[in-house]
Amino acid sequence: MNVLLLGSGGREHALGWKLAQSDNLTKLYIAPGNAGTEQIGTNVDINPNDFASVKNFVRENQIEMVVVGPEEPLVKGIKDFFLNDPFIAHIPVVGPGKDGAQLEGSKEFAKEFMAKHNIPTARYLSVNSDNIEDGYDFLEKLEAPYVLKADGLAAGKGVLILNDIDEAKTELRAMLGGKFGDAGNTVVIEEFLSGIELSVFVLTDGHSYLILPEAKDYKRIGENDTGLNTGGMGAVSPVPFADEKFMEKVNDRIVRPTVEGLKEDKITYKGFIFIGLMNVNGEPYVIEYNIRMGDPETEVVIPRIKNDLLDLFNAVVSGNLKNRHIEIDDDTVTTVMLVSGGYPGSYVKGKKITGLDKVSDCIVFHAGTKRSGDEVVTAGGRVIAISAKGKNKDEALKVSYRNAEIIDFEGKYYRKDIGFDLK
Ligand code: AMP
Ligand code: GLY
Repeated sequence: MNVLLLGSGGREHALGWKLAQSDNLTKLYIAPGNAGTEQIGTNVDINPNDFASVKNFVRENQIEMVVVGPEEPLVKGIKDFFLNDPFIAHIPVVGPGKDGAQLEGSKEFAKEFMAKHNIPTARYLSVNSDNIEDGYDFLEKLEAPYVLKADGLAAGKGVLILNDIDEAKTELRAMLGGKFGDAGNTVVIEEFLSGIELSVFVLTDGHSYLILPEAKDYKRIGENDTGLNTGGMGAVSPVPFADEKFMEKVNDRIVRPTVEGLKEDKITYKGFIFIGLMNVNGEPYVIEYNIRMGDPETEVVIPRIKNDLLDLFNAVVSGNLKNRHIEIDDDTVTTVMLVSGGYPGSYVKGKKITGLDKVSDCIVFHAGTKRSGDEVVTAGGRVIAISAKGKNKDEALKVSYRNAEIIDFEGKYYRKDIGFDLK
């Protein structure tokens, strides 16, 4: 099979790395990819949001499946674009249509969906400029800290957590006034949930589903979870507190009702569901849905899956997932993200990366890199994820960190405490 994978991050390198191991793969193309994905397939210079160019490429290269890595093309309706065009309607796309993509594309939609299907989540009120007074009243009823979420996609920046009620009211006005552009025309105000976070991944064909290995992501730039939010500085899988009992609650109260809720609402969903959870004293609550895999979670989840990923994707698009079982490696996989100095603020790109040929016992997933002549250079804030396997978290982290010292570029930074809060 010829497969086109859309995206350019560590997530796509990890998905591509796994697809490339399938006996059924003929050619793998990655659009636009990075300096890592060119080692496992062919990079194509196409923007995943340029659907017309994607279509032309698919037709000219006998592509038989499109796998969508990031959320943006899905929220913009790439699946519907394919289904509505007779020339490409027969080519399966792994990922939801525009309707299902609302789970991530609109926080208000996601909250209404959870309320309707009795899925545990924080109490909330959705406000816009017409009912801002209701928003103030709701804030008064909550206790600090206050959570404000821009309804639409805001490049991961649309969530504010504020300790002071006056500040929360001021920020609410600013968001409704355009602080995050149109994404903030509606704002979801939420009760703050106190606990430990966990990422749960589901692959569904719209009827059956598989729960993939769970992971814990470290989102803050600084050690001990301090400083600004990032896309993710490292990850660990499995997560010790996600034991059988906890995961049973997650399945019964969240995963099954989500897949059945989508079906009930006549939303055909074939793809990944990433559930961001809070474990509040042993009880799971949904913080957010994403309609794609996480990054850097993919870099620890995928190496633990023993199945042929292309076979799973074929089962997803043909509706045969009920005939598949997930096989998971018991080992722990960790990843440590090397980032550009200054990230998540401003940083310089184009720095030469050295040591890539000197690493050992790990998988180097490229996130923000590109080739420049004979060199590989930095091309983003998050540059490289170093994944390693071990009998436990400490063994795996030792290898990730040993190699984190070997790969180098000017301004390199990484957190040295990934996994610090897990036993
Ligand atoms: P989101 O974009 O919805 O994942 O929010 C970003 C981060 O904000 C999450 O990963 C949580 O750490 C935090 N967060 C979001 N909602 C809540 C909440 N209701 N209670 C506590 N923390 C939250
Ligand atoms: N690592 C969090 C995310 O991918 O959204």
